[in-house]
Amino acid sequence: MNKRVLSGMRSSNPRLHIGNYEGALRSWVDMQEEGYDMFCMVADYHALTTMYEDAAQVAVNAREVAKDYVAAGIDPKRSVVFRQSDVTEHAELHLLFSMITPLGWLERVPTYKEKKDDMGGAEREPYGLLGYPVLQTADILLYRPMGVPVGRDQAPHLEIGNDIGTRFNRLYGQEVFTPYRYLIPKDETRAKVPGLDMRKMSKSYDNCIYLSDTEDETAAKIKSAFTTPTKMRKTDPGIPEGCAVCQYLKLYSPQWQTQWEEDRAGERGCMQNKKELTECLNEMLRPMRERRAELDDAAIEAILADGAERAREVASETMRMVKSAMGWPVR
Ligand code: TRP
Repeated sequence: MNKRVLSGMRSSNPRLHIGNYEGALRSWVDMQEEGYDMFCMVADYHALTTMYEDAAQVAVNAREVAKDYVAAGIDPKRSVVFRQSDVTEHAELHLLFSMITPLGWLERVPTYKEKKDDMGGAEREPYGLLGYPVLQTADILLYRPMGVPVGRDQAPHLEIGNDIGTRFNRLYGQEVFTPYRYLIPKDETRAKVPGLDMRKMSKSYDNCIYLSDTEDETAAKIKSAFTTPTKMRKTDPGIPEGCAVCQYLKLYSPQWQTQWEEDRAGERGCMQNKKELTECLNEMLRPMRERRAELDDAAIEAILADGAERAREVASETMRMVKSAMGWPVR
């Protein structure tokens, strides 16, 4: 049975936060433990679509993101950790797919419509932004995976991917690509981690808890986190649904139900919640920090070099199947 699974994240930031972990990375680690053949990619080309002016920064970020994958529990021996740009087949298949993808499919993608408006008009918007889902399709189909674990926001991209695969098969008369499944986390609380201020967790809001934060940084961030504004003292009733600390307790504390009840009833204060959360969260992050501490740039580059080699084995086989279906010379 095909147990291959591919996923990736854009290296637009140097650090992954607990929202990235809960939304995707955690399920990659779980699937690795269940025995799937995981291909964990750092999408540095994708980061260039919006950060082409900071190309060198994208490269630095890519290394840091790979470190976070390994720190979070992706074992580079069992799973393949690789960088998109190291496997040139991604660029090649992207080009071939760009020839068979109707423009209308791409213009309809909701993420494209949003991003486009941020770029400042047609003279500034790169061609690559429109092709973002085409490149993502190449990333996926190169590995002919059974499934792709991603956050819900990626669903439109995955849909186009299967459509492009089907179109390729039909155009060239061979079943090279079998549709893959979208593996979107069912647990919505885990998939939507709020930021420290209850807005969306995002670097630009400066409201993130990073996987690589130290114990003290984590404690300080939790201390300043948003809680029920009308809960001035312990005996005031809290509203856990609107309180960042309670939201995190739900994720990380085995006793969250009691904690929520007491918070609501005015039987516990925010200080106690914060103290208990700091302990739970630091307990979860501690093994990640330890693994990260062992990874310098040379160590992660060695992991990525090995990963690229293993990724290329599958990717080059797919390219031979693609060329052969097209009636093109196969190297
Ligand atoms: N678009 C994805 C994101 O923003 C990153 C990505 C690139 C990806 N290629 C992929 C995800 C292939 C899954 C499969 O997070």
